[in-house]
Amino acid sequence: MESSATQRTDGALTAVVGLRPASAPEDRREAGAPGPSEAGPAALELRRVSKRFGQVVAVRDVSFSLGHGEVVALLGDNGAGKSTVVKMISGVFAPTSGEIRLDGQAVRFRNSKQARERGIATVYQDLALVPTMNVWRNFFLGSELRHRGRLDVKRMRAETAQALHEIGLRNLSSVDQEVKGLSGGERQALSIGRAVHFQQQVLLLDEPTAALSVKETEKVFDYVRQARQSGIGILLIMHNTVQALSVSDRVVVMRHGEVAAEFAVGGDLEALAKQVNLAISGAA
Ligand SMILES: Nc1ncnc2c1ncn2[C@@H]1O[C@H](COP(=O)(O)OP(=O)(O)OP(=O)(O)O)[C@@H](O)[C@H]1O
Ligand SMILES: [Mg+2]
Repeated sequence: MESSATQRTDGALTAVVGLRPASAPEDRREAGAPGPSEAGPAALELRRVSKRFGQVVAVRDVSFSLGHGEVVALLGDNGAGKSTVVKMISGVFAPTSGEIRLDGQAVRFRNSKQARERGIATVYQDLALVPTMNVWRNFFLGSELRHRGRLDVKRMRAETAQALHEIGLRNLSSVDQEVKGLSGGERQALSIGRAVHFQQQVLLLDEPTAALSVKETEKVFDYVRQARQSGIGILLIMHNTVQALSVSDRVVVMRHGEVAAEFAVGGDLEALAKQVNLAISGAA
């Protein structure tokens, strides 16, 4: 995995910040201390970030952080501002005010390409996959490996197969298969596996399971848990509180564009789900 990264052809890797050992965030969780690691800066931090569209304030003074190897769920009703937050982190919109930090360093992206080059991977429901291309071509799309000026097909096939195996996608018949033949969950695996393989720092998933069956959703959560082991920070946007609690370390609730509450996940999850739902609806 490592050697491939050093041979990327687009030069983006130079900007990718180093990963923490997979064991560090595990230790932190066991110690029961959610949130950014005391050992270093958070993978991602938002400081009083706001976004205005004309008269509409979509996001107001939002602050939260995401540790390395941490899964944070961003919850909230329709229109709460979740997708706008994701789009600011991924460089689609610039914040009107406030600061976004990666590994302690303030960043300002002019577009999503710049965000990607800094290690921000975004997975939307529809994803950035090309259905008529096969699995390995999609996996290396824009980061193709070359050997003496030619595409190194053999290595790309082998590395795709290995990465998908590592993320937990074990029953794919072939990496030569077209992506249009994959299920929604398998497509998620491909995108999540790619973020891990290319050592991205932050993975943003906006409603990754919205169109999936319960069984497929469970599988996607397994990929998320697997990805977390690599030290990547994962921000998961969800509608379903119970599902969110089953996979995340921390929950941030947004309401009317602001952070309404934050919860560490643990203990009686049923009781916690009730509290979270009260925060979402504004009754808390
Ligand atoms: N490009 C835009 N121009 C104007 N207003 C916008 C724009 N994008 C979002 N908004 C407004 O910002 C608010 C937050 O929208 P956003 O899409 O971030 O919510 P959300 O929490 O993702 O909702 P959902 O759960 O329905 O996806 C909404 O009131 C929305 O109408
Ligand atoms: Mg949204």
